[in-house]
Amino acid sequence: MTLNVELLESSFASVANQGTEFTTKFYAQLFADYPEVQPLFAGTQMEKQGMQLFQSLVFTVNNLRDLDTLVKALKGLGTRHVKYGVLPKHYPMVGSALLKTFEAKLGNGWTPDVQQAWTDAYGVVAQVMLEGADYSPEILNLP
Ligand code: HEM
Repeated sequence: MTLNVELLESSFASVANQGTEFTTKFYAQLFADYPEVQPLFAGTQMEKQGMQLFQSLVFTVNNLRDLDTLVKALKGLGTRHVKYGVLPKHYPMVGSALLKTFEAKLGNGWTPDVQQAWTDAYGVVAQVMLEGADYSPEILNLP
């Protein structure tokens, strides 16, 4: 698959200066649609978490032309998510909330091509993160 780098960059540029609004909407959408993931964030400072999430989106878009760097970072991120209690089944939930957030924030800019570009990009990001994650039973059973 080839990612539509130019469309990802240009569409992200219209939300890049709205990080707080974006992540507030994203978590509200995620918890409304999938209340079962809320307990994973029980001890989380959501304001800081929002900034970190947004920074990782910025990093991803900024490194679409440097896939070695991007893949390395995303694998590490995926590795850390095992410890946060995140399971593979949670990735499509986050993807759905993320796409709905883009749709709401981009308005008329959310064209079918932009939707396709972000659907593809999230699929690749989730796949690479999961490649960095070890979900074998002995890992999950650790205290
Ligand atoms: C594209 C996918 C995702 C991205 C870019 C992302 C990004 C991040 C970032 C940057 C952090 C900060 C800590 C760190 O860097 O290790 C984080 C923490 C976290 N993420 Fe994600 N994440 C993704 C998917 C998910 C999914 C699918 C879930 C499950 C609902 C999830 C739940 C969490 C939790 C529970 C934390 C820890 C919060 C804490 O420190 O208390 N993330 N995520």
